[in-house]
Formats: sequence, structure tokens, C-alpha cells
Amino acid sequence: MLRFKTFWQLPVILMLISEWNRCIKSHEITVDSPETIGIDDTGHLGPLYIHWTAPSSLTNLTDCSVRYHLEYYNTYQNRWTVIRTVRTSYNAQFDLEKEVRVRIATLLRGGCVNGTELKSPFAETILPPKVTGPVGSRVLGFGCVFYQKEFMECTWHKSLDDPPHSQRSLYFWHRGMEQAAECPQYIYSNGLKTGCKFCGESLPEFTNFNICVNSSSSNVALMSAFFSLQIQNHVKPAAIEVLHLEAGPDRSIQVEWTLPQERIPEHCLEHEVETRKEGQDKQESLQRIITRELTLTVSMEGAQRRCFRVRSRIHQYCADRGFWSDWSHWSCYPDLPKSNAVVVFALVASLVISIFVLSLCGWALWRWRKGREGKTIPPSHLNKLMEYSKGLQFIHKITQNQ
Ligand SMILES: *[C@@H]1O[C@H](CO)[C@@H](O)[C@H](O)[C@H]1NC(C)=O
Ligand SMILES: *[C@@H]1O[C@H](CO)[C@@H](O)[C@H](O)[C@H]1NC(C)=O
Ligand SMILES: *[C@@H]1O[C@H](CO)[C@@H](O)[C@H](O)[C@H]1NC(C)=O
Repeated sequence: MLRFKTFWQLPVILMLISEWNRCIKSHEITVDSPETIGIDDTGHLGPLYIHWTAPSSLTNLTDCSVRYHLEYYNTYQNRWTVIRTVRTSYNAQFDLEKEVRVRIATLLRGGCVNGTELKSPFAETILPPKVTGPVGSRVLGFGCVFYQKEFMECTWHKSLDDPPHSQRSLYFWHRGMEQAAECPQYIYSNGLKTGCKFCGESLPEFTNFNICVNSSSSNVALMSAFFSLQIQNHVKPAAIEVLHLEAGPDRSIQVEWTLPQERIPEHCLEHEVETRKEGQDKQESLQRIITRELTLTVSMEGAQRRCFRVRSRIHQYCADRGFWSDWSHWSCYPDLPKSNAVVVFALVASLVISIFVLSLCGWALWRWRKGREGKTIPPSHLNKLMEYSKGLQFIHKITQNQ
């Protein structure tokens, strides 16, 4: 009996709960979404100007503060980026080759909502990517290297679907520029533009450097490609040229290297030393050591000879990424066997060359002598010459007498 009673009560309780919910909902205050969302391209090859207006239902609002919750899909990081602002505009960087997705909600807080925070539904705007040409006509292998922080080269390959005689242009923009500008100095290969060189004076670090590679002509439709980079992550230091090896105590060797003159601060570099051990049986073993110092001491460890080479790159506290410099030349300790061989070779070579040149001279002299013995000036010509010189003497005398 008791059991039956509780069974009968359950629907009544559920009905009461739903009725109560409905009652609350009917008294709930709501807030409208922002209106007239606009997304403008400022021509900066990535940044877009997003703007909107407050919902008109809030124009006479007192006793409450209005803010906006803005989300945009960040295609560089593949996730939504969230911003809260009291303003009605925002600048964000987008990859213009991809769809642009923005959604905004109104946030209301204060006395008018009983001291709580109220959020409107999202108003969403989606812009399709600008398609300028066939998909297969986008440039390939685009990459930039900032050499010694002095100049940057960005290069690309033409796409497989490039129509014949099609040419590309590069445009760039960074925060210091009013408008996007065309590449200052193109790099050509077989008459085709395949890269651009930028000089270091105008290259700002730790800010977006936006690039667009598009068709040079509006008559040829090629897919525009957009890139955004931070140039401090593309540095390639100069190769180290001077390596100094010195024997230390207990059969150790100290390697020291001198940095080339460049704009990269010394404390931003790390170095990789590759050392090759040559044993008695001509067996070689390689070892690589990374260091921030400009010197390294290693032991000979029973090796007959040890050789070293060094390369450098920007380390992680100064940039997220970077390129290794080219390797220095190998320097070996002891250096004698190789350099002796070079000297001997040079001596022999110069001896052979001198002998050859001398014999060539001798032969030429012999030929000249022989030629002179064989030839004599014909008498008639000799007579004419003598008469001519007599005439000259006569004229000379006359002028002297005057
Ligand atoms: C705001 O107030 C003005 C004048 O007080 C009135 O004309 C207008 O209709 C009001 N707007 C809204 C959305 O209530
Ligand atoms: C605000 O809260 C009070 C008491 O907590 C309540 O009586 C009133 O109905 C609420 N107002 C709104 C608009 O929710
Ligand atoms: C290439 O891009 C630049 C910069 O956005 C633009 O000024 C130019 O008109 C574009 N060229 C073509 C052929 O669309």
C-alpha cells in the first residue's frame, strides 16, 4: 500500500518541477545579440577590422554595463580565440586563404539583471575565402631566411599548374607600414620571379610580417598565397671561419672559435661542435656537442688525431626557431701531416710550372733567333730608307739655320 502511494506521487512531483521551471523561464530577462556585424579588409594581407553595433533594445539602458564576448576561429592555431571588450570593434589577424568565422554575444551586468551577468545568443558571420585561381596554381615551397639579421630572402617554386609565361608578384606589410608594398628587389631564375630580397633596416622583429604572392597580371588567374611570419624565427647566422686548436694538459685539446661580425648578439647563439676522432687503424668516430660557450675542451682519448667543425644558431630564449649556420671548415690536431702534404704538393706543382714556363721561353727565343738569321731586308727597301733619313737630316739643318 505504502509502495503504491509513492508510485502515485512521482508524476505529481515531476509535474510540479516542470511547472516551476516554466514559471522561472517566463520571468527570465533576456538580452539581444549585437547587430550589423561587419568585417573589413584593410589591405594589410591578414588583419581584418571587425565591427558591430549594440542591440537597439539596450539604447536606453541605465544601471547596467554592456560588454561583448567576441570569438574568432584562429586558423593558425586551429582553435577559437576569445576576447572580451567594451568597444564595438576589434582587429584580428586571419589567414585570408581560409574561411573567416566570427561570433559575438552581448554581456550585460549590473543592477538591471539583479547583479548577475547575462549573455545573449551569438551572432555569427562567416566569410568564404577569396578564391583567385585554380587550386593547383598556388606557389610551392615558400620559405624565408633572415641571413645574419642583415637581409631576408623569401623564395618559392612555381606551381605545377602554372600557365606558360605567367609571372608572380610579392606584396608585404608589417606594422610600420601604412599600406602593403611590392617586393623591393626580386630574385630571378631563368627570367621568372622566384624570390624577393628585403634589406635589414626595414625589417621589424616580434611582429607579424605578412606576405601575399599573387599573379602579376589580372589577365592570368593564379591562386594567391598568404603567409605570416615573425622574422626573428627565420635567422641563419654566418658560418664560423676561425677555429683555434691548442693542446692542453693530460692530452686534452681546447677548441676556440671566433664569431663573425654580425648583428646577432653573442648571448643569443648556441653552437654545435662536431668532433671526429681518428684512431691508429684509421677508424673514425663522430661526436656532437652543443654549447653556449665559445670554447670547448675535449680529451684525445687515445685518438691519433682529432678534427673539429662548428656551426651556430639562435637558441630558444631569443627565438622560437632558427636555422643552423653552415658548418665551419674542419680543423685538426695535430694538423701537420695534412699541411705538410699540401706544402709538398704546392712546391712540386710550382716547380713543374716554372720548368714548363722556362722551357717555353727558351724555345720561343730559339725560334726568334732562327727567324732573324733567315731573313734580310731587301736592298731596294734599304736604299729608300737611307734616302728618306738623309732628307730628314736636310730639313733638320734648314730649320736649325733659320
Ligand atoms: C529610448 O528613449 C527615447 C526617448 O526617451 C524613446 O523615444 C525611444 O523609443 C527609446 N528607445 C527604446 C528602444 O526604448
Ligand atoms: C531580483 O531579485 C529579487 C530578490 O532576490 C527578486 O524579488 C526580483 O524579482 C528579481 N528581479 C529580476 C528581474 O529577476
Ligand atoms: C596582388 O596583391 C596586391 C596586394 O593585395 C594587390 O594590390 C594586387 O592588385 C594583386 N594583384 C592582382 C593581379 O590581383
